[in-house]
Amino acid sequence: MPTPKYDQKYHIVTFGCQMNKADSERMAGVLEHIGYTHTDEAEQADLVLYNTCSIRDNAEQKVYSYLGRQARRKQLNPDITLVVAGCVAQQEGEALMRRVPELDLVMGPQHVNRLEDLLAQVFSGNQVVATEEAYIEEDITKPRRNSSIAAWVNVIYGCNEACTYCIVPRVRGKEQSRSPESIRQEVVSLAAQGYKEITLLGQNIDAYGRDLPSGGIGQGVGHKITLTDLLYYIHDVEGIERIRFATSHPRYFSPRLIQACFELPKVCEHFHIPFQSGDNDLLKAMARGYTHEKYRRIIDDIRSIMPDAAISADAIVGFPGETETQFENTLQLVDDISFDMVNTAAYSPRPGTEAAVWQNQLSEEVKSDRLQRLNHLVNQKAADRSQRYLGRTEEILIESINPKNPTQLMGRTRGSRITFLNDNNPDLIAKVLSLKITEARPFSLTGVLEDV
Ligand code: SAH
Ligand code: SF4
Ligand code: F3S
Repeated sequence: MPTPKYDQKYHIVTFGCQMNKADSERMAGVLEHIGYTHTDEAEQADLVLYNTCSIRDNAEQKVYSYLGRQARRKQLNPDITLVVAGCVAQQEGEALMRRVPELDLVMGPQHVNRLEDLLAQVFSGNQVVATEEAYIEEDITKPRRNSSIAAWVNVIYGCNEACTYCIVPRVRGKEQSRSPESIRQEVVSLAAQGYKEITLLGQNIDAYGRDLPSGGIGQGVGHKITLTDLLYYIHDVEGIERIRFATSHPRYFSPRLIQACFELPKVCEHFHIPFQSGDNDLLKAMARGYTHEKYRRIIDDIRSIMPDAAISADAIVGFPGETETQFENTLQLVDDISFDMVNTAAYSPRPGTEAAVWQNQLSEEVKSDRLQRLNHLVNQKAADRSQRYLGRTEEILIESINPKNPTQLMGRTRGSRITFLNDNNPDLIAKVLSLKITEARPFSLTGVLEDV
């Protein structure tokens, strides 16, 4: 059993989505608060924490292989503390502890803010599993963010949808919106720490406010706050220059939100709206609650006001029963819309989800063939979309030195395309610069400073 020695080193590995990344930052904040210091070397860490993802089988398997290595290390050095957090932890709970008895702590995403307490139980001699449904307490510690420029801000936890392929509602629980006041407070404190950009996060961010009482900030009696209201409410926080939000759900996406993005100068013209499939029967089988026509209308509405808005999405191929023709409807949608980026995935049956037990599963060959064909088109479209930036002047928020090339700085356009600048003057970090774009690759750009 490990003992607490608060002059020790921690190492965190994060799998999965932005929410997990946000959670990892918060847990890192807790660990630093109780005296741990960060190390990049897992082999030198006294506490190793895996923040896991179970969205697809391959994400899950990766965790087990990492964990196996640490379990063997712990057999030689029992003082090491081993923690598994995140969605696999929530899904497997006790079973994970039995499978890997070297583990000290298994904790679900709703327990992130309790890490200090949970570790105290570990250090007093217990193996701890914390996966019960919990009310998520507000952020109380100062998160240690990976970037000092751009920060994630959770606005709604959980998901109340029931997409038939998806594990998220099982592992993240019911929707819980944070109060607008506490969100604004966090944004104010981020601005005071020098952050320039925030991304509001929710699995279905359009659901923000549904579970809050009506009649709050700027709302009349009987009205509930929405994501759009929240954007207006936090927009004037001084020091914050860019505001983003993700992920939008086509079923709940509102025209008011488009208007807010258009009117509010800090809100970036970038929409991440997963469509999953371009076929109406499949959308129905997925229980997504919209048609491809509705999806197309949303994109048209956005582009009619902001013709240049960046649009990205997620898509799944090889959902149970997907025919070649239905798959081609997905290709057609991608072809018609010309996304800036699409995250693609082959369907992976997840334990406890509806579609996982259907009889009409497709073979791995069909799935991987379709994935390749879709990726090919997505890349081609992204390359086309990138070309529109060539020769243009774009506002780039410089975030850091390019980790792969220290002679360059790296930032992003308002549409979130990574952009490089051949200059490594650290004084430019955190500045918004006007760059003339000289090179365009499918998912990144290079620019030069405009003469001022
Ligand atoms: N809340 C977001 C998605 C969260 S999960 C939404 O509603 O769009 C992120 C992405 O993972 C999904 O958009 C989907 O494309 C993919 N995904 C989820 N479950 C999957 C599964 N079982 N197999 C393959 N991909 C999946
Ligand atoms: Fe999963 Fe659907 Fe919820 Fe997105 S909206 S997290 S895909 S259940
Ligand atoms: Fe993965 Fe959990 Fe996010 S399953 S995608 S880390 S919500």
